[in-house]
Amino acid sequence: MKEDEKGAMTTYHVPALLQESIGGLNIKSDGIYLDLTFGGGGHSREILKHLDTGRLIGFDQDEDVLKNLSDGVDEEHFTFVNHNFKYMRHFLRYYGIEQVDGILADLGVSSHEFDEAERGFSFRFEAALDMRMNRRSDLKASDILNNYDREALLAIFRNYGEVENAKYLTDTIIQGRTKNEIRMTGDFLQLIAPCIPKQKEKKYVAKVYQALRIEVNKELDALSEMLQQSKDVLKTGARISVITYHSLEDRIVKNVFKTGNIDGIEEKDPIYGHVKKAFEEVNRKVITPSEEEIALNPRARSAKLRIAEKK
Ligand SMILES: C[S@@+](CC[C@H](N)C(=O)[O-])C[C@H]1O[C@@H](n2cnc3c(N)ncnc32)[C@H](O)[C@@H]1O
Repeated sequence: MKEDEKGAMTTYHVPALLQESIGGLNIKSDGIYLDLTFGGGGHSREILKHLDTGRLIGFDQDEDVLKNLSDGVDEEHFTFVNHNFKYMRHFLRYYGIEQVDGILADLGVSSHEFDEAERGFSFRFEAALDMRMNRRSDLKASDILNNYDREALLAIFRNYGEVENAKYLTDTIIQGRTKNEIRMTGDFLQLIAPCIPKQKEKKYVAKVYQALRIEVNKELDALSEMLQQSKDVLKTGARISVITYHSLEDRIVKNVFKTGNIDGIEEKDPIYGHVKKAFEEVNRKVITPSEEEIALNPRARSAKLRIAEKK
């Protein structure tokens, strides 16, 4: 718990599936581990509890996370990297590490990012349409809405939001932006109001926001790149736990853990015809939070955990 500017007590983030995801890593006290999504540090602190001479490297591309580093994170065993996890192999090389004993990734946004009005991740607040996790990057949600062509916008709403009337939504945005630039939550919601189905307002806008957020942060590219690199970065027998929050991410993780590639197509050895597998799934059935966890932390309700072991 921390005190905000107005003196109210706030929690940066409540970690989801904490015991299940960390337990699944089979942590060795002298091993090297990666927490690719440090956030409030909940998962990192749990990993550190299991380490003796081992080491943890935490990644997060959001600068706001820096304020959580003093909070019970043991510096002797911990290194923080304020970058996108898609550069993990590069940073490991920089630190002279070839392979690691386990990886944890708890994808998506933190409660802090979602609840800070000015970050623009939530349609609950009147704010500039930003949605960048990494504020050093250039592309904001408003840039997408004002500059992407029809085809690109349509693909985003269809593929990343699975928005049912994506064509109507895209045409409404394209028409609207010729009159006024789309900059703030209120302008945007007013513009797309005719597209929003009655009684499904929140669900619909959540999908639209999800689509924009995925594009702003290139989330699926980063995930695919990280999973690809994890095949080289993990030692044989080392484990990876990935927590996802929507079906697009979960599909990618499931495919890679099952077949070694994001399309889910099994690769066969060209000479012997054996199926080449990079991972063995530890849990075939996805792990979801218990009712007790959801009651305590409703934001964990869509979390899905998959664990795999490097072959
Ligand atoms: C769900 S939160 C993680 C919460 C954390 N496990 C905890 O216990 O507090 C996800 C975090 O990952 C970060 N993040 C998401 N995608 C990232 C990426 N590609 N590279 C680095 N950080 C990323 C976000 O900025 C956010 O802080």
